[in-house]
Amino acid sequence: SAATDYQAEDAAISQGTVATNHTGYTGTGFVDYTNIKGSYVEFTVSATAAGTSALTLRFANGTAVDRPMDISVNGAVVQSAVSFPATADWNTWTTKTLNVPLTAGSNKVRATATTADGGPNLDRVSL
Ligand code: GCU
Ligand code: CA
Repeated sequence: SAATDYQAEDAAISQGTVATNHTGYTGTGFVDYTNIKGSYVEFTVSATAAGTSALTLRFANGTAVDRPMDISVNGAVVQSAVSFPATADWNTWTTKTLNVPLTAGSNKVRATATTADGGPNLDRVSL
């Protein structure tokens, strides 16, 4: 079935802000993670059935340094320190797709920065 988009600016944000100071985002903005370990964005996503789903995160990283994040589902880390490498600049977005286990119905999917640099700029997730 077709993917559903969940905009980061509509998600629950801890230690980050909604921003529009770069081009190429979808929706009405993106999340600028505070440059601190533990900053996160948490999406509430819906799955029709339990099982593994492909989760695609759209991000930009205008630095030369990786911005790894832990991905958790309903409180449990399912992918540790996933790489969000440099893109050409902050206006250049790319995607990363991960397999994550979901339960039927509502799920909390959180992307948490694991280094003091914080996360990349995050535009949306799709699944
Ligand atoms: C710059 C950039 C932000 C980015 C930040 C960072 O300030 O404009 O969009 O989030 O760098 O390094 O995290
Ligand atoms: Ca930032």
